Amino acid sequence: MKRYWTMLVLPILVMGATAKNDPLCFRAQGEAKELNMLDGQTVRYTAYTGIRYVTNVEDSAVQTLNFFVPEGATQRSPILLRTYVGGYRESKAKMPSALDATGRALQEGLCVCIPGSRGNDSATENGQGQMVFTGKAPYGLADLKAVVRYLRYNDKRMMGSAERIITDGTSAGGAMSALLGATANHPDYEPLLTQMGAAKAKDNVFAAVCYCPITDLDHADMAYEWLYQNQRKDVEAARKTGGQYERYFNELKLRNPKTGELLTSENYMEYMKSWLTASANRFVAEGGEIDDSLGFGFATYYPPTPPYRPGGPRYVRAKPIKSGIATDVDLDQYLSYVVSRQALKEVPAFDNLKSPECRLFGDTQDIPAHFTGNDASEDLRHRVRMMNPMYYISDPKAQTAPHWYIRHGALDRDTSFPVAINLATKLMNEGREVDFALPWNRSHEGDYNLDDLFRWIRDLY
Ligand code: DHB
Repeated sequence: MKRYWTMLVLPILVMGATAKNDPLCFRAQGEAKELNMLDGQTVRYTAYTGIRYVTNVEDSAVQTLNFFVPEGATQRSPILLRTYVGGYRESKAKMPSALDATGRALQEGLCVCIPGSRGNDSATENGQGQMVFTGKAPYGLADLKAVVRYLRYNDKRMMGSAERIITDGTSAGGAMSALLGATANHPDYEPLLTQMGAAKAKDNVFAAVCYCPITDLDHADMAYEWLYQNQRKDVEAARKTGGQYERYFNELKLRNPKTGELLTSENYMEYMKSWLTASANRFVAEGGEIDDSLGFGFATYYPPTPPYRPGGPRYVRAKPIKSGIATDVDLDQYLSYVVSRQALKEVPAFDNLKSPECRLFGDTQDIPAHFTGNDASEDLRHRVRMMNPMYYISDPKAQTAPHWYIRHGALDRDTSFPVAINLATKLMNEGREVDFALPWNRSHEGDYNLDDLFRWIRDLY
């Protein structure tokens, strides 16, 4: 009897002791809060703020997370992990907003986590009066992975389910969301996470919401020049750079998810156009009108010939009527429209020393680095690779999320359409559930059409 007694009590004592001395054990005090939504509803929730999620904190102003639990949440509620990373800069932990997906998530009964994470501008003083930049790639991503690990490590102690995490971000944040979804648990990141003192837990997520992800950075310049070659002043130079994208693209061996057909540089334009016409069709079906000058071709039909009336005209040929179904688009015409709304980025669009991307791949002294081309060191190549979800989606060592919601506005020229289309296509080819669209009239923005997003989220559970 005595032996059984110790077997029962000892583990409890040990567990208690670990929790007490464990800096990564969740024990925050909550604070009651309210959020007034635009529809007049008041959402009540508990806020847990300023939680450290790694033990080797390098930037105490940034490496914390906030966690919010709405009234009525349970241990099984999904968790929206929203990052506000933009421009690959650092982002501090924030409070939920009635104006974006965070407030809406609380209203829908989801728990919400808004973490801080380091970025290309994160600097701390090293004790000798020098600033050290600690958030260069892939440290910002590693911070966010550590957040997921923290949530899973503390799953039993916190409301919401770490097995139901949905990441969400826009632009560079959309890329971070894609990376969290694609690269989870991959050994490439393990040394970093260990060095940072992340919780010993897995970092896979259930779903990733990616608005206009600025991703596939090492091929983004090629893709940009390939798509916009006829809009460039120096068409020849653009065509040359764009040609390299064709080579890369053919090696991806993507397939059209609808037909199974292998996608090559020969048929890719048609495939891309099918996403644009789908966007136009959705817009028209919702009552929108598209001007002919944008380059869309619509199917036409002839209304029935009016019946012959004695004394009336013998034969009236009705005029063809434009249907609401876009069947084709003149790409040059549509792309000139996109460019007329916002000028293209300079050449090169990404790997230029003034870009957020070169700063991201810079060093601890904040000296920006070119990250494409043959001059990049082995170490830099590895860092670039770790920031590209495309390399991990079919890697069996990564645990890629099963569910994806990806949006790239049909007017967004911050990166080219193929970047988002190929991310979505690769995920579909690898058997993931992907809700993908190029929403009409949207430029470089996120968290729009929340009704649509939360319809999708509700269907996940
Ligand atoms: C963002 C936008 C860009 O055009 C870019 O190259 C990188 C990041 C952003 O808004 O996050």
